[in-house]
Amino acid sequence: MCGIVGYIGLDRAGSVMLDGLKRLEYRGYDSSGMVVSAGKGFEQIKRTGRVVKLEESLKEPQLGGNLGISHTRWATHGDVSEANAHPHTSSDGKISLVHNGVIENYNGMKDFLAGKGYTFQSETDSEALCNLIAYHYDKEPKDGKKNPFHEAVRKSLRHVEGTYGIAVVCPDFPEDLIGARKGSPLIVGIGKGEHLLASDVSAITHCTQNVVYLDDNEVVHLKKDNFSISTVSSKSVEAVIHKVDWDTSEAELGDYDHFMQKEIFEQPTSLENGMRGRFSDDGSTAFFGGLNLNPQELCQIDRILFLACGTAWHSCLVAEYLIERFARIPVEVEYASEFRYRNAPLDKNTLVVAISQSGETIDTLGALREAKRKGFRTLAINNSVGSTIARESDGGIYQHAGSEIGVASTKAFTSQIMICAMLALYLGRLRDLSYGDGVQIVNALKKLPEQVKEILKQNDKIAAVAKKFAKYEDCLFLGRQLMFPIALEGALKLKEISYIHAEGYPAAEMKHGPIALICEDCPSVFLVTSGETFSKSLANVQEVKARKGKVICIATEDCDIPDGLVDETILVPECHEIVKPILMSIPIQLFSYHVALERGCDVDKPRNLAKSVTVE
Ligand code: G6P
Repeated sequence: MCGIVGYIGLDRAGSVMLDGLKRLEYRGYDSSGMVVSAGKGFEQIKRTGRVVKLEESLKEPQLGGNLGISHTRWATHGDVSEANAHPHTSSDGKISLVHNGVIENYNGMKDFLAGKGYTFQSETDSEALCNLIAYHYDKEPKDGKKNPFHEAVRKSLRHVEGTYGIAVVCPDFPEDLIGARKGSPLIVGIGKGEHLLASDVSAITHCTQNVVYLDDNEVVHLKKDNFSISTVSSKSVEAVIHKVDWDTSEAELGDYDHFMQKEIFEQPTSLENGMRGRFSDDGSTAFFGGLNLNPQELCQIDRILFLACGTAWHSCLVAEYLIERFARIPVEVEYASEFRYRNAPLDKNTLVVAISQSGETIDTLGALREAKRKGFRTLAINNSVGSTIARESDGGIYQHAGSEIGVASTKAFTSQIMICAMLALYLGRLRDLSYGDGVQIVNALKKLPEQVKEILKQNDKIAAVAKKFAKYEDCLFLGRQLMFPIALEGALKLKEISYIHAEGYPAAEMKHGPIALICEDCPSVFLVTSGETFSKSLANVQEVKARKGKVICIATEDCDIPDGLVDETILVPECHEIVKPILMSIPIQLFSYHVALERGCDVDKPRNLAKSVTVE
């Protein structure tokens, strides 16, 4: 949510920041802007709309410069306008700032600053902080003992209630760039004769792979050739430099039209990468390097609580079915945003697991911290190496799905489910899942990449189905047992990228309300698998057909769907129960993608959404 790129060093600030903003655009794309030291002094350029609008407005000198800050915005306070776009510059012109997060006490700050003669151009909370830094800067002694710009930033941050990731510049200090974070990620990139600041590593991997992850309440002071980190309360901090093992081509489209499409088609590889090296030699169980819990400790767990938001929450629901079924451990699933304020009573032997693709979702992070504060062991299932959630949990499992840029999550979802299936297997084998059952599950998991490739070959067929159904404004997704979370995910995928009203329900629950919506203009997507609820699912299909509802049936090949019962059928390979949620997800992803294309929607940048939600 919102992206920051800052730069100090060689004469290429504008172009490096522009590249970075393009890579960050999936985090917010209402408006963008930059302040860059170009020739005579600092220049500020802001545009509403996509980053390309900013690019079109930049003149040659502005692509150079040795210092700058830039931002792509997802509006929180104030509508989408150039005035509300970042950077903000203080009314005395002394300070420019870009900000991610929410300054909760900004109204009080504004009143105080208005009394001191500062004025405001925007409706944002960020401008209040910018003026507050200018106020402290004005008061700081300029006697050369301490850097007054650095001191002013630090003093101002002591007054902030809320969250921030900021990058700040001051025209009086054209050799200094300052950043700070609390609750909103900020990363320092270390190059040769240059330093960068970014809210996300993907913004800077084209320049350097050496990074420092700032922690909350830390302030970084960057110069061209060196940098120092200290806390807001002035204690110095030793920087730990990490090497990011990141394939920069992941942030590029290659032969694909959209990132969502690319990521759907990457699933054979992302699944393969997530399981590589994680099966036991006897082929009957999985293991994970970073759990930081030994088998004895894992056997003492009586309950697992999963926490997440959005698509990751749907992965948790799948985990609930899988872990209860294969490991016989009771599981609860909570929206992170609810858990963190609910004060739920939990047994002391509860393991808390947070699932987050980005590892930066503020509610998931807040819930994880709350669980840690109460003394629970925490694990994270996470796709972004070095993310805040990964660093703050007691142990974790990386998804290794590769970077996901499309706002609608696809490969991260199937990879999360696969990790949960492997966790269910591992925990099950520590309890009473037999060797033979374990071997069957391992074999089923190993077959996944090939089976996903088979489903992807049906892309054209699914596109043709989508073409027929793209005209409807409502749609139901229905499934039983393990297919219920996939129905929820199907509805979410469709609504977020095509703006069709869609709802996911357990198929039997349809009779308690959603059936009222069924008519010729409200189709249903049924997710049907073989097994004990197969005939019940068919009965639910009959109920829809009896009310003139159109039905798309996504089913495993071993389901005997009576001829003429449904309007469209999409089949996935016959498979073990544990991998059904993964295989059945692929057609719903392709269906949503093609419906959105058919309706002319921007699939990678859907209206009002952001990839990583770092405000509450
Ligand atoms: C946003 C994204 C979703 C994602 C959710 C949770 O809403 O648009 O795709 O599922 O955040 O994100 P996380 O990074 O925590 O998995």
